[in-house]
Amino acid sequence: MKTNRRNFLLVALGLSGATAAALFARGMMGGRMGMQGGSQAVKKQENRFFNPLRIPPEIKGEMKNGVRHYDLTLQSGISEFFPGIKTPTWGINGPYLGPTIRLKRGEEVALRWFNRLPESTTMHGHGMHLPAAMDGNVHQVIEPGRSWVARYRVDQKACTNWYHPHIMDRTAQHVMLGLGGMIIIDDKESAALPLPKRYGIDDVPVVVQDRLFTKEGYFAYPQNMMTVMHGFSGDTLLVNGTIAPYFEAEEGLLRIRLLNASNARIYRFALGDGRPMHLIAGDNSFLERPEKVEEVLLSPAERAEVVLDLKGMSGRDLFLVDRESGAGVLRIRVAKAATARSEIPQRLTRLESVEKVRPTGSRRFDLAARGPGRLVINGKAMDPQRIDEKVPLGAYEIWTVRNVGMGMGRMMGMNHNFHMHATHFRILERNGSASGVRPWERGYKDTVFLAPGDEVKLLVRHTDYADASVPYMYHCHILEHEDAGMMGQFVVV
Ligand code: C2O
Ligand code: CU
Ligand code: CU
Repeated sequence: MKTNRRNFLLVALGLSGATAAALFARGMMGGRMGMQGGSQAVKKQENRFFNPLRIPPEIKGEMKNGVRHYDLTLQSGISEFFPGIKTPTWGINGPYLGPTIRLKRGEEVALRWFNRLPESTTMHGHGMHLPAAMDGNVHQVIEPGRSWVARYRVDQKACTNWYHPHIMDRTAQHVMLGLGGMIIIDDKESAALPLPKRYGIDDVPVVVQDRLFTKEGYFAYPQNMMTVMHGFSGDTLLVNGTIAPYFEAEEGLLRIRLLNASNARIYRFALGDGRPMHLIAGDNSFLERPEKVEEVLLSPAERAEVVLDLKGMSGRDLFLVDRESGAGVLRIRVAKAATARSEIPQRLTRLESVEKVRPTGSRRFDLAARGPGRLVINGKAMDPQRIDEKVPLGAYEIWTVRNVGMGMGRMMGMNHNFHMHATHFRILERNGSASGVRPWERGYKDTVFLAPGDEVKLLVRHTDYADASVPYMYHCHILEHEDAGMMGQFVVV
């Protein structure tokens, strides 16, 4: 099974069996060799951060008969992460990652995904509030050479979402190869706020991933019990597909949209000199008010928006760092005079007050390891044929999610998170107290981090799109865990 899985990654890249075998022999097999080669190359570059940050193109679609159409092609290609070194990758409308899809609340949209890859996959709108049949989850498979259209009305608050594959057992590999991208939803409220909003200038996507390279420059993806249990961890950070990046900012306010698009890694984003950042948004909404924070912890798939005050910093550098690993993430070079004025308003949005709500139901979700390589929720591994929960439309419910260790030795110390499709939730408590909820967890969320032993209480409500026959998913978003079974299905009825 190990060999098959490794083979898969190369075959997926469109390489012949013979080429794949040769690569195995040279580097892919020895994940360690690759790791050291990669490490050294990275160390050298991290000192300098001289690569201009790639800004994914923004696509706004084309209006036809009242529907905004977006054309998205899944394709394989070659990326040059290190100068002169060619890395086979996958991407959307390009060789690695994809464009930033810009959506407007209230609009009817049609996202046409055309699969030119040698494999079937799916394309999920993470954080999107939409009908189950448009979710792009494990059930909406796109065969090679075919296309699939996600058509729906954008009906949620302004936020930063993203898209990525969600194919049974293979999501981790497909994301690793490069499938994914940002979705930005605008609404009247976000348009009226005086925040920085010029894409790529003072409103910048920061999609953070980690990778491991072989000596040849291929992505290495060691598949063993350690990667299944603890998730993949690479030694090289990429931001929007750029290694050791810098960004030239204007002197003024800089808004960055952080997305942890890594398979398994947890980041604690902070500024190198420890100065505070102005936190304005989490997964699915603004916070009611901005909050000064020193760091933001994001587990896989979580997002946060922060505004950095670069006034008076002309000619200086600021580093975005990951306190968890100590690595630099992005060098921000303040090199230009401000060409627009923006500010951080005292009030950003209004969220429904949770105090007055009387929940009418409750559910429990226990995340645990069951035997080697098998990860379960409430004792069950994902079965696409089974519906695990029937959730009544419109009802407020309390969902209690726990990361239980199961007393299996070193498996006890596993991180997990919990993601729910179709809707967003509020986090009421962490480990029995409301004060355990962190600043970036105070808006609407769709993914919540659980350290070993953690328990969170979520206020959940599914407001639309009842459909007894097509399920949505909930799962751990550490992709190796998701693929190892830590996922379940629910229908809204
Ligand atoms: Cu980001 Cu079910 O996924
Ligand atoms: Cu999702
Ligand atoms: Cu997990």
